[in-house]
Amino acid sequence: MGSNAINHTVDPTTLFSKRVQQYEPGAIRSLLPLEVLPGMISLVAGKPNPETFPFSDISISLKDSNGHRIVLEEGRLSEALQYGLPGGNAELIKWFEELQRRVHGIGDHQGWACCIGNGSQELIHRAFQVFADLGDPVLIETPAYPGVVGFLRADGHQLIEVQSDAEGLNPVDLERVLFAWPGKRRPRVLYTIPTGSNPTGQSCTEIRKAQILRLAKQFNFMIFEDDAYSFLNFEESLNRARSYLSLETEVNGETGRVLRFDSLSKIVSAGMRLGILTGPLPAVQKVVRLTENINLQPSSTTQMLALTLLNHWGHTGFLEHCDRAATFYCQRRNAFAAAAERHLQGRATWEIPSAGMFFWLTLLLPPGQDSFEILSRQGKKNGILAIPGVAFLPNQRSSCQLRVSYSLLPEEQMVEACQRIAKLVDNAWRFEILM
Ligand SMILES: Cc1ncc(COP(=O)(O)O)c(C=O)c1O
Repeated sequence: MGSNAINHTVDPTTLFSKRVQQYEPGAIRSLLPLEVLPGMISLVAGKPNPETFPFSDISISLKDSNGHRIVLEEGRLSEALQYGLPGGNAELIKWFEELQRRVHGIGDHQGWACCIGNGSQELIHRAFQVFADLGDPVLIETPAYPGVVGFLRADGHQLIEVQSDAEGLNPVDLERVLFAWPGKRRPRVLYTIPTGSNPTGQSCTEIRKAQILRLAKQFNFMIFEDDAYSFLNFEESLNRARSYLSLETEVNGETGRVLRFDSLSKIVSAGMRLGILTGPLPAVQKVVRLTENINLQPSSTTQMLALTLLNHWGHTGFLEHCDRAATFYCQRRNAFAAAAERHLQGRATWEIPSAGMFFWLTLLLPPGQDSFEILSRQGKKNGILAIPGVAFLPNQRSSCQLRVSYSLLPEEQMVEACQRIAKLVDNAWRFEILM
């Protein structure tokens, strides 16, 4: 991979949407950072007085560390129960900035920043508002995560599918789409899930990431790197593909084209709703501007719990916890793969997932039949629920695929689940013969 000596910072503001320009700084929230200045008397915010709140402490026990307890009292408690900054708790942001330096090797002077959101989903939605106007074309890795397709479709975006396979998003397909692009309004965003994709479970190789980064520079678009499953990577650390964020300087000799989304959902708690955006400062500032105008801030309470936990673990402890979670899912994956091998051979094909929590099965159905149809006809009757492939195709069409999640399934139920899927396929053929 060629390394480029000159380091240039891309100006993402030239790609900003028109709609985001309409958001003014929040009158109150822009003054909040000044409240902590020494000697300041603040009459600014309509903050409730925490003395009236009913909690005296918040305490949570950890499973490991011999039942270590996280306790929020007094100052920490007041902060946890109070309004906070729109971009998130400053200490928590710093913790993640240090993590990103360590994990992605990004330097201090590359013009990037982090902010926190109520889950990465919220941040992804905000980032699309920053870079795309209603109806704009958007490049989207396909099969695609429906959580993003849902709001993009509702906003009337033109969803340009870019195909992925066992090595992740395919740069050849991306190049084909970009060269053939007919309209004047060129896409300004590529949305991709590089590790353990939802729904395919496949990860993008480093070679492909480099090719995609080069195309991003050539065709001037941003890469939204939704890495919700990056902490659940089954590859040995040395074999893991580096992130787009890590690679962009080396590949393109520039920084500022990647917005990276991390999530605590899959490794700390999905219900705490905490996600992290890392990206060029002007883009992060715009996302924060949207937050202060829309829902004010991410939850102070869950941020404070996370901060106390993360300070207890440190970066090393956090990454060790992620490795343990990845090992847990890897064992589940192996068990599901063994059950599939035994019961789905000849009835479906699949690639073994390299991260995350999904198998993407291609059912070997009679011509003309699709997974949506057979699930609606037979799924409930046969006691099996899974998501039909059509849900992951932005421009909805018939599909033989099925997304199967193995995260919650006890190993003993995996055999039964595969047998029931096998029965769906067998019944489809029986039905075909009877017709
Ligand atoms: C690919 C992908 N991105 C984002 C999310 C949303 O994550 P969060 O809980 O951080 O909002 C999910 C949730 O399943 C996901 O699969």
